[in-house]
Amino acid sequence: MRDPNRTGVVLTDIRKNFGSLEVIHGINLEIAEGSFVVFVGPSGCGKSTLLRMIAGLEEVTDGYIEIKGRDVTDLDPSDRGIAMVFQSYALYPHMSVRDNLAFGLKMARTPDAEIDSRVRAASAILKIDPLLDRRPGQLSGGQRQRVAIGRAIVRKPDVFLFDEPLSNLDAELRVSMRIEIARLHRELRNTMIYVTHDQTEAMTLADVIVVLRDGRIEQIGTPREVYENPANIFVAGFIGSPRMNLLTAHWAGDGCVQLGATKIQASVKTAKLVPGDTITLGIRPEHLVVSASEGLVKARVDFFEYLGGTQFLYCQTEQGQPIVAEQRSHMPVNSGDTVYLSWETAQLRLFDNSGMRVSETG
Ligand SMILES: Nc1ncnc2c1ncn2[C@@H]1O[C@H](COP(=O)(O)OP(=O)(O)OP(=O)(O)O)[C@@H](O)[C@H]1O
Ligand SMILES: [Mg+2]
Repeated sequence: MRDPNRTGVVLTDIRKNFGSLEVIHGINLEIAEGSFVVFVGPSGCGKSTLLRMIAGLEEVTDGYIEIKGRDVTDLDPSDRGIAMVFQSYALYPHMSVRDNLAFGLKMARTPDAEIDSRVRAASAILKIDPLLDRRPGQLSGGQRQRVAIGRAIVRKPDVFLFDEPLSNLDAELRVSMRIEIARLHRELRNTMIYVTHDQTEAMTLADVIVVLRDGRIEQIGTPREVYENPANIFVAGFIGSPRMNLLTAHWAGDGCVQLGATKIQASVKTAKLVPGDTITLGIRPEHLVVSASEGLVKARVDFFEYLGGTQFLYCQTEQGQPIVAEQRSHMPVNSGDTVYLSWETAQLRLFDNSGMRVSETG
């Protein structure tokens, strides 16, 4: 039901067709006022399309969109109280930074004094004062993206929409811009919706992560929830880098699973399993304890990556299943070594043969 007291952004039964192809299949999502929401999902899952529908750059085929309690479904982008920042900065090359920032406000016939004060406020927040008289061509990538964000800030939108804003920047700049965007959200407290491929951006920026696949929502949760308690195998395999290990096993009954010759203790929240059912065991690399002499699962090290503070062992179980262990204490290893991997039962996540989690939450 429509509720005028709901603020933030509310999507109700949103569908999108391109021609006869439906790419968004009925999305329902409530984004709390002032929260930072990140959309993640594989390429082509519909992140940009969803964002562009919220912005009004793409029509919805079905459903409606509310922003701050107002139905904006049929409104022009300029009437929705949103501002969008794209991966390509989309700055006017022949205008100075100052004029780029002011352009939207001029078009909206904002008084000069107001434009001036908003441009000054935005450039102070983003520390781009010294750049105001340059043209975009005379800026670095990071500086351009800052101007693009500034252009969004001067509009004083209710909602900021970001579509992979940092993807064009080099690794170091991405980190510093990521921190600036977090700071911006802390200062402005606007609702922000942010699309990214970058796991670290999603985990660090989000109050809430929305995991999408093929035009549907797979899970909505805080970074901690989606990381620690993925609702299904897809989310388990998508969130985290390296991803959660997923091992095929069988339900043995009596609270145990059978992995090859090994019977392993597990805890499940459903009574529906019967002995012999296929079960997928999910265990994060950092929860594996590596030993040279004893453990639950025997594995062979195929190769390893030494990263200084940590190292990753890429192993295979005796059944030939891949498994990655993260090791913080550096037991010296070599490719070809036999290792034994163990874990605490509480760290195990179990998924049934439809891919849904059946273990207790941690
Ligand atoms: N204008 C269009 N015409 C037809 N199909 C489109 C159009 N725009 C997007 N699509 C299709 O809609 C689906 C969702 O595309 P979208 O751009 O939203 O994905 P995305 O999640 O943003 O992907 P990426 O991570 O690669 O940016 C894709 O299958 C894409 O091919
Ligand atoms: Mg996209």
